[in-house]
Amino acid sequence: MRQILSCLLVIMLAGCRGVDRRDDAAMTRFIDDLMGRMTLEEKIGQLNLLAAPGDIVTGEAQQSDVAGPIMRGEVGGLFNLKGVDKVREIQRLAVEESRLGIPLIFGMDVIHGYETTFPIPLALTATWDTSAVREAARIAARESTASGICWTFSPMADISRDPRWGRIAEGVGEDPYLGAEMVRAMVYGYQGTDPTSYAPDEMMACVKHFALYGASEGGRDYNTVDMSRQRMYNEYFPTYKAAVDAGVGSVMASFNEIDGVPATANQWLLSDVLRDQWGFEGMVVSDYTAILEMVAHGIGDLAEVSARALQAGNDMDMMSYGYVGTLTESLASGRVSEADIDRACRRVLEAKYRLGLFEDPYRYCDAERAAREVFSTEHRAVARRIAAESFVLLKNSENLLPLQRGGTIAVIGPLASSRENMPGTWSVSTDLKAPSTLVEGMQEVAGEGTRIVYARGSNVCYDEALERAATTFGREIPRDGRSDRAMLDEALRVARGADVVVAALGEPSEMSGESSSRTDIGIPDAQRELLEALVATGKPVVLVLFAGRPMTLEWEDAHVPAILNVWFGGTEAAEAIADVLFGDVVPSGKLPSSFPRNVGQIPVFYNHKNTGRPLGDAQWFAKFRSNYLDVPNTPLYPFGYGLSYTTFEYGDIELSSDRLSQEGSIEATVRVTNTGSRDGVEVVQFYVRDLVGSTTRPVQELKGFRRVSLRAGESADVSFTITPDMLQFYNYDLEYVYEPGEFDAMIGGSSDRVHTARFVLE
Ligand code: BGC
Repeated sequence: MRQILSCLLVIMLAGCRGVDRRDDAAMTRFIDDLMGRMTLEEKIGQLNLLAAPGDIVTGEAQQSDVAGPIMRGEVGGLFNLKGVDKVREIQRLAVEESRLGIPLIFGMDVIHGYETTFPIPLALTATWDTSAVREAARIAARESTASGICWTFSPMADISRDPRWGRIAEGVGEDPYLGAEMVRAMVYGYQGTDPTSYAPDEMMACVKHFALYGASEGGRDYNTVDMSRQRMYNEYFPTYKAAVDAGVGSVMASFNEIDGVPATANQWLLSDVLRDQWGFEGMVVSDYTAILEMVAHGIGDLAEVSARALQAGNDMDMMSYGYVGTLTESLASGRVSEADIDRACRRVLEAKYRLGLFEDPYRYCDAERAAREVFSTEHRAVARRIAAESFVLLKNSENLLPLQRGGTIAVIGPLASSRENMPGTWSVSTDLKAPSTLVEGMQEVAGEGTRIVYARGSNVCYDEALERAATTFGREIPRDGRSDRAMLDEALRVARGADVVVAALGEPSEMSGESSSRTDIGIPDAQRELLEALVATGKPVVLVLFAGRPMTLEWEDAHVPAILNVWFGGTEAAEAIADVLFGDVVPSGKLPSSFPRNVGQIPVFYNHKNTGRPLGDAQWFAKFRSNYLDVPNTPLYPFGYGLSYTTFEYGDIELSSDRLSQEGSIEATVRVTNTGSRDGVEVVQFYVRDLVGSTTRPVQELKGFRRVSLRAGESADVSFTITPDMLQFYNYDLEYVYEPGEFDAMIGGSSDRVHTARFVLE
């Protein structure tokens, strides 16, 4: 019997080979035919997405926990399985040992690279360089697809204005325009531009977490979200929509609720908005156990929540076993229809078809290419370049940076000598032993004439339990058994013997990311005290700050002469940090998120509304204005901020006309001059303000940006084209409109330092 079916499979696959996967009618015929032969259980099986169990051993895949369910046709896909041989073996079980031989789809959290690891997404966003971000995603796709992986759970498009939320590290910052640009670049990088037919080195992207996950109350992970529709459409949806418009193949529903219904079962979100309004035709997958979690949310038992998820438009169930566990019975009882199941099954099969898995289930298992390309010298060179682009110079008194080569440099801090900590959160396929430590990277880049000396100085934090929680998943930073005093004394001795101190401090990588929310987002206590002691030596101190989020740095800003924020830069971070510290690369990153002065200011973001009682030009407090008694309204470092080793000056804005007709466009031009003595790159930012609207409008909205390379002394005219389209917004009735009236155009090198010119939309 099995032989007959295998024969059928061969005929079926042969029928599929050579077809044009862009031909929708051919795809429909193929899937109609296949579904016509599937049992109900096999259809439901396609909706079941499982995490790879730890017991898959090369050569013995058939003994693993998932082998039985796969051979019975109860599994549609597997994720986070690393190793092309393992993927091939598991795929063989589906293709040769299951009744219909339907191939599995293999997914993975390839969030900022496969083995060649790029900066965390928040840091990638800080490059403001869409071509770099696309290139990073492209390399991630090439490495993944050689290794058996054809589906990545990226990009994460969740806008967040709350740095307490650990997952801000995985997102694209606080701004919908910048975020949308980044998300689009990632989708194109992973998928290419034709999502109807993937090449063998392209993978399906999955935009997540749909929707609003970054707005969880109090910044606590998985928490409730409650938001007006205006805010959703204008500020939080554009990044997800950008992915859909770019042809993203799949969408992951978020854990949080929206209007009281968890996203995973939210019909309005997953069907009305996503499919009817935005025209999405791909597949929707739940987040990890998100269907089951709706029992805890309190909207029903597993059968009820599974039925609701399916009917809302959630096609695949990740790890809840809700669909395989309950849908057969729900169909028998009439709770769901066969059409509900068929619709979801078809979407999964369509994704597999577009990926070419029916033509060749091993299409993405290319061991030879994997050996050649994964973590190749070329890919690592790109990662190093992009990492250096992502760092943001927050402060640089008296041009302390770049460091001179020669003399003695003391590198101090518990993050200075770790490899595992360098890549950053969500780097599941990274070889954690591969990155250099900062000390090694600095020595390599500095060369022999420079003495690099190291002392640890402190543990990550005084509280051992907190430290353990923040250094999990193989990212251990072994705790030093010496007393705090002994570590500090050693560090001070080393610092005093050096010409300059580089303090490598901040968050360990698992202090941000999933389930890593914090209420105190300063440098952890032990390290902060170490920093104070280092500054007190009188030696010049450069703070190299590791951070997965905007941190509170008021003390540091007041007392430390130079601060380079390096986020988590990926496998090549150490060398890239050294490239910037020694001035081989001039920093050019700009903040994608505001750095608050203190936690009480959160949320603080640049594109806020004016209120009826704005503070106006006052720096700090005015009675009966919208402000705080104890802190200014402004963040410490605003959105778009970032210094260079050179300086840039902006001229006034020249408008080609101060009247914009509804069919027309005008140009806003500024002259930007590199007024320093080094060549550099400036991110020129273009904002608008709609002065009067039918609903209130933000005081500033990013509408364009350009990275401009200028040699020392050089000037360039930088222009932005203003069209009515870019002035559109969702009004009270959620119509996407522009409204005639006055607007301010603003151009500058940071959201708080702009030149302004007024124009009228007629
Ligand atoms: C995360 C997702 C991720 C999934 C699979 C979940 O916990 O929220 O972002 O893609 O796990 O690993």
